[in-house]
Amino acid sequence: MPRVLFLVAVNKGNVMCGIVGYIGWREASPLLLKGLKRLEYRGYDSAGIALLNGSVLTVMKQKGSVSGLETDTCVERASMQGATAGIGHTRWATHGEPSDRNAHPHENAAGDLAVIHNGIIENYSALKQELLTEGYLFLSETDSEVLVHLIDWIWSRETSLNLESATRQALRHVEGAYGLCVVSSREPDKIVVARKGSPLVIGIGEGEFFIASDAAPIVEHTKKVVYLADGELAVVTREGYCVKSIENIEQEKIVTELDFSLEKIEKGGFEHFMLKEIFEQPEVMHDVMRGRVRLGEGRVCLGGIADYLDRLKQAKRITICACGTSWHAALLGEYLIEEFARIPVEVDYASEFRYRNPIVGSDDVVIVISQSGETADTLAALRTAKEKGALVMGICNVVGSTIARETQCGMYTHAGPEIGVASTKAFTAQVTMLYMLALSLSKDKSISQSEIALHLRELSEIPEKAARILQLDSQIQSIAERFKDAKNFLYLGRGYNFPVALEGALKLKEISYIHAEGYPAAEMKHGPIALIDEDMPVIIIATHDSTYSKILSNIEEVRSRKGRVIAIASEGDTEVSRLAEEVIYIPQASGPITPLLTVIPLQLLAYHIATLRGCNVDRPRNLAKSVTVE
Ligand code: G6P
Repeated sequence: MPRVLFLVAVNKGNVMCGIVGYIGWREASPLLLKGLKRLEYRGYDSAGIALLNGSVLTVMKQKGSVSGLETDTCVERASMQGATAGIGHTRWATHGEPSDRNAHPHENAAGDLAVIHNGIIENYSALKQELLTEGYLFLSETDSEVLVHLIDWIWSRETSLNLESATRQALRHVEGAYGLCVVSSREPDKIVVARKGSPLVIGIGEGEFFIASDAAPIVEHTKKVVYLADGELAVVTREGYCVKSIENIEQEKIVTELDFSLEKIEKGGFEHFMLKEIFEQPEVMHDVMRGRVRLGEGRVCLGGIADYLDRLKQAKRITICACGTSWHAALLGEYLIEEFARIPVEVDYASEFRYRNPIVGSDDVVIVISQSGETADTLAALRTAKEKGALVMGICNVVGSTIARETQCGMYTHAGPEIGVASTKAFTAQVTMLYMLALSLSKDKSISQSEIALHLRELSEIPEKAARILQLDSQIQSIAERFKDAKNFLYLGRGYNFPVALEGALKLKEISYIHAEGYPAAEMKHGPIALIDEDMPVIIIATHDSTYSKILSNIEEVRSRKGRVIAIASEGDTEVSRLAEEVIYIPQASGPITPLLTVIPLQLLAYHIATLRGCNVDRPRNLAKSVTVE
């Protein structure tokens, strides 16, 4: 299948969490547990199942892996023998830490209705307020729990409704993304499922049906599947399935034959997790902004720091600590916060900060950035800063991670689990987050309201521009073919694209084992220029911004020493192609936002060079995804 088709498939999906469902003639619980294990590659922090046995609905869920759930439910499973319908979920937390009570399924108070959900309900707090006034009690901190109470409330007010119509009506009140399964012991022979922005597949067996968030748990049982489209709701029984639009109009569905191996499905059809994660970036950027960028109001709403916003704005200085790729995001954070909020920012390697007795006090804010939330040096920097009285804020991807728990305030990037060791989507998620943070810290005197609105509009257009860059994949692959045997690479960028040059070089060395250095383009003449000869590929980021004319001069300098220039330029540029051997054109964007675009071709270039050299890109030698040693 061509790669661009995968892009479409992945773009529609919210990659967090996994869903399985079964209704048929076999015992449901072992099928559900096995299916959940097949989904654990998506990341997990808790798991749960709901089984329907006649008029009895039983929910079992807990923090931790599916294996833990399996062991713990052995006894109960014995008593549930005979349940031939049920739903299951592995959670990758977005709202609320990983815990037993935040695990899915969520139940209503009567215990006769259960819901599992992938995605993010954007208006959950407004819905929750309404349901609280109606007397509903919430047991979890998740956005998903509102769904079960909302369906229950609607169903209880109109007795003419059934599970399907009550779910349909409830979904009309919901904003955000969902892949949803609903079961009730009041109608025990059906599973109601619905999709908007988070994938769902129905597998068709002989007198049995499977439901899942992707085909991985289904493929061993049946190859025949039906993919739900956004805005569709289906009722699945032992006799068949009926798909309707949310407006209750029956939909004709095409049955697709799966020809995928399990491994391919886990990787969404991509060769490697790294490539899949690179291609997920448009959707991830969208998810980071979801519910936070309020275009209509021209402002950013960051719930995780709302109570600390004044203190953050009044900070005398902000220090950002991180490691690896997160440190490169931190450098961009420095540029963005200084530009928009006019607060002085310093960036430290977490490992240096913690050992150099830094001058930090109660007027300071320290931001720690970490994908995993577990990096030992970053955690130690956080603790040092806290001891010295600073306000410590976190930007993490993994919900409930140690860093997320120990910071006083912070935000999650919602990038979904990142499995490739070389970080890609986590980086663009962090930079998107920092862009929003910088704008929300701005004061009236530093930037006008209308300028903020313009920046937010441009940010909201970035996912679509990023998707266009991904379509250049085959061009980048052919560039990789030509340069794959080089021994060294130099990456140059100015201003906002200097940290991108560092990140591009890091990606290449991490996964291809080629020596690569990132440099501020102007610094080239203070050293690296001595290395340039006809064997040295030089990647130069030369997009249209305030440093453009200077970077053209840098390209000339490299060319006159016979260096081989691969340039990243803005669409419509005519100058760069005169000077560079290869040019990758990316959509126009203003300076502060370009890193979200310029980094993507560099990720793809590193990926293709590494695979052409036969390297294991998902598990590069000597590296770990999460470095928990000092
Ligand atoms: C390791 C990973 C990098 C990552 C760095 C920081 O070195 O291989 O990809 O950037 O740790 O990890 P963190 O989880 O703190 O962002």
